[in-house]
Amino acid sequence: MTQLVWLITGCSSGFGELMTHHVLSRGDIAIATARKLSKITHLGRAGAATLELDVTHSQEAINDAVAQAIALYGRIDVVVNNAAYVATAAWEDMEYGQLLAQFDTNVFGVVKVTRAVLPHLRERKSGTMVFIISLSGWYGHPFNGPYSGSKFALEGLVESLSRETEGFGIKTLLIEPGRFRTMLLSPDHIHTTRSKIPAYNKASNAHVDGLAGEDRKQQGDTKKAVKIIVDLVRKEGIAEGREVPFRFPLGTDCYSAMWEKCEETIRLLRDWDQVINSTDHDD
Ligand SMILES: NC(=O)c1ccc[n+]([C@@H]2O[C@H](COP(=O)([O-])OP(=O)(O)OC[C@H]3O[C@@H](n4cnc5c(N)ncnc54)[C@H](OP(=O)(O)O)[C@@H]3O)[C@@H](O)[C@H]2O)c1
Repeated sequence: MTQLVWLITGCSSGFGELMTHHVLSRGDIAIATARKLSKITHLGRAGAATLELDVTHSQEAINDAVAQAIALYGRIDVVVNNAAYVATAAWEDMEYGQLLAQFDTNVFGVVKVTRAVLPHLRERKSGTMVFIISLSGWYGHPFNGPYSGSKFALEGLVESLSRETEGFGIKTLLIEPGRFRTMLLSPDHIHTTRSKIPAYNKASNAHVDGLAGEDRKQQGDTKKAVKIIVDLVRKEGIAEGREVPFRFPLGTDCYSAMWEKCEETIRLLRDWDQVINSTDHDD
């Protein structure tokens, strides 16, 4: 495969940072982006081009940043929508502004970046759009509504996008990581809310404390995940000679949660098939 040019969002830590290093190690070109350039100077020293890109900025500002990125090497082959953060709260404590901010980064930011790159990929009739979504886009854990809601929303947006653009030769890859060791749950990154409502206090505190206890102790090895994602895009290693699926779960926790939900869905369809299938007009 020829050398690919990757544009990656949210590269100051975690998946984005490791992916930038891995992409470079495979001989590809990485354009690493972050909302503060000072946080990715080390990636510049490692050989990546670096650009400032805050996914919550206006569509015009993001279009400008993407145009700058395209101008650097004359093209973008792979766009990785990676930037996001976790906000958690009980429904009854959830403030509208908090939910809006979560969707602004995790959903509308992704939409803006993708809309900025898409005409370029469509005109070139090639390219891959990678979306780092989550097990939380598949399974709604309690108190995880803002984050899970944002990731479920992305699932729908991206599934539609994939189907409407595959005819242009554009590949879409939706990645569903389980829990991986990054800065995601670190105090500076996560936005947690302890419930102010006595009925939720115990469970909400256990949830917030549980997340804090998991910070940088997650079982998933992000380096292993990143290598698999790059293999899937480059059709090398684990993906060599195989059809690359649209949706790709990663991690033992994701595997079991997805399996359980599939079984639950099949059981529902079997147990209630007659009722479910009884609502068509008789004519
Ligand atoms: N780690 C996991 O267990 C896990 C599981 C499932 C899915 N994911 C997904 O993996 C992706 C990467 O997260 P991570 O685990 O690597 O966590 P991370 O270490 O916290 O990295 C998240 C990155 O997103 C950036 N970011 C946040 N808001 C941004 C904005 N408005 N504009 C641009 N960049 C912004 C952060 O940059 P700043 O330094 O500027 O804040 C940071 O570089 C996310 O989409 C996350 O939902 C992670």
